[in-house]
Amino acid sequence: MQESLEEIRLSALSGLAACADEKGLDEWKVEFLGRKAGRLSAIMRSVGSLPPAERPKLGAAANVAKDELEAAYEQREATLKRRRLDETIERGHIDVTLPGRRPQIGRLHPVTQTLRDLLAALTDLGFQVAEGPEVETDYYNFEMLRIPRDHPARDMWDTLYLDPENSGYRPLLLRTHTSPNQIRVMERQQPPIRLAIPGKCYRKEATDATHEWQLTQIEGLAIDENITLADLKGTLGELARRMFGAERKIMLRYAYFPFVEPGVEMAVDCFACGGSGCRVCKETGWIEILGAGMVHPEVLAGVGYDPERYTGFAWGLGVERVALLRNNIEDIRLFYANDLRFLEQF
Ligand code: DAH
Repeated sequence: MQESLEEIRLSALSGLAACADEKGLDEWKVEFLGRKAGRLSAIMRSVGSLPPAERPKLGAAANVAKDELEAAYEQREATLKRRRLDETIERGHIDVTLPGRRPQIGRLHPVTQTLRDLLAALTDLGFQVAEGPEVETDYYNFEMLRIPRDHPARDMWDTLYLDPENSGYRPLLLRTHTSPNQIRVMERQQPPIRLAIPGKCYRKEATDATHEWQLTQIEGLAIDENITLADLKGTLGELARRMFGAERKIMLRYAYFPFVEPGVEMAVDCFACGGSGCRVCKETGWIEILGAGMVHPEVLAGVGYDPERYTGFAWGLGVERVALLRNNIEDIRLFYANDLRFLEQF
């Protein structure tokens, strides 16, 4: 019997070394370690028929052999698994030493980033955000803002009309600014009003380093009792400080817009030349970022507000201009040229 155990052990070990795949391993396991028909189990079952004195010795030897074979099986299994992985890698030509491919991750356009920062600052200052239509009527875009037909101020906005043939009362156009939303808002709600209204605007004009035919504006409107020019100055000064930091020079000067009185514009010192004058700022040293003013009493009266009781200020800010100044970009046309080498820098 003892010899037979040793025989089984040796034949099991050589059989295992010859196993080349999972199927062979399974068959080997059934043959040698199988609980019912396995050769080792047969030995163990036979222990009971031996004379009592011989039982412990054979029993112990069989247990040792079982442990050994089980360990050998596990080792062989691991070896085969590793070999199979190696073969798969070899067959698939996977070079695990090559650097991985970087996934392309999208990002926000620099103008969108600036727009979001501006709106975050404005909501912080107490303004709510609303939107209006990009296709406007002449009525909202011009007439209600005190720019009647044939008024010379219309030259300030070269307009893209959608139906040039239409000589009707309310021809359609692409809004040239976000200001028509002042009217739309005041028509449907009563003061107090604190609103910021972002949106795209369009102008039929030649482009240059600081002008594009498509631009993004944020219109602001604050109407209440006792609002003064000092409130305008304080609010826009704070907005500019948040956008550009306290060191940046900011200028407010008189400007004409038909729908405000008085009207002002705000400019920031040119990042490209530091104020001495260059191509970017057209030799002025300043880059204008917004127009603003105290809402004209006739505009207030036009929407049914009592101009004796209510006053307010409004502004229209050029988002691309702010993005230009914050990122030291010398040409506004880069924003919409779809050049990834430019866009991926933000
Ligand atoms: N809408 C003007 C423009 O696009 C900018 C502007 C000026 C807006 C004065 C205002 C304002 O609200 O009060 O040129």
